[in-house]
Amino acid sequence: MNSKDHTHEPALEVVGLEAAYQDVVRVLHDVSLYVHEKECVALLGANGAGKTTTLKALSGMLQGEGRITGGQVLLDGEDVTGSPPHVMVPRGVVHVLEGRYVFPDLSVRDNLLMGAYTRKDREGVPREMDRIFEYFPQLADRLHTQAGYLSGGEQQMLVIGRALLGKPRVLLLDEPSMGLAPKLVREVFEIIERIRSEEKLTLLLVEQNANMALRLADRAYLIETGSIVLEGKAEEVREDPRLQKVYLGGFQEE
Ligand SMILES: Nc1ncnc2c1ncn2[C@@H]1O[C@H](COP(=O)(O)OP(=O)(O)OP(=O)(O)O)[C@@H](O)[C@H]1O
Ligand SMILES: [Mg+2]
Repeated sequence: MNSKDHTHEPALEVVGLEAAYQDVVRVLHDVSLYVHEKECVALLGANGAGKTTTLKALSGMLQGEGRITGGQVLLDGEDVTGSPPHVMVPRGVVHVLEGRYVFPDLSVRDNLLMGAYTRKDREGVPREMDRIFEYFPQLADRLHTQAGYLSGGEQQMLVIGRALLGKPRVLLLDEPSMGLAPKLVREVFEIIERIRSEEKLTLLLVEQNANMALRLADRAYLIETGSIVLEGKAEEVREDPRLQKVYLGGFQEE
């Protein structure tokens, strides 16, 4: 795990992270990873390996039932271990949760505005709404529809759009392709790719669709039962038998 050949500090880093639920169920044992500014890093692993828990620990959302029990979270080298989302979001760390958490009774527009609640520059919000509609024109057409009536793909676009309104510098994306038809998966990934380059985002991506994730990512990590077991450039990780074992059946072209 010694490939830190960068001279600059990572934008986001975790060192020896440990976490538990209900103080007894230890689910992260040894997670160390870093993401450099404007890098896209994929975190891959089987169901239950600890991917979502890792993202929650980074964004401050591991609260209540879960807790960080060891290790450090560093943002630009500064220790922010355990800082809650209302500290992390204004500092540019925004987490798109697994499962498309929209506010079902609110309109598309109001859902998007929720993403801007921590912003001080309120006057910039309408302009950025327009920018989000360039990525997701479907959302502009459904602006006054209750979010609960959107299709799964539209809801995924909505949660990504809402996150962008928080002006993230580091975006943590948990399973953006979950439950979407293959055509829509490709569409969502194309938009993520576009957003990544246009917004100059730093991206940590959790994905079951390892094939798509490794196409987008510069580097990748494999997590197994709460520990990082493999790290490398995306193309190296793709060829590694340990990854292929997790994703049984190997890489089909989706
Ligand atoms: N609230 C909770 N209380 C107790 N255990 C939990 C809780 N949330 C998750 N876990 C456990 O922690 C472990 C890691 O879960 P996590 O959600 O991080 O996995 P994951 O890698 O994101 O999996 P998936 O690919 O299915 O989303 C699992 O064993 C899970 O059962
Ligand atoms: Mg998960």
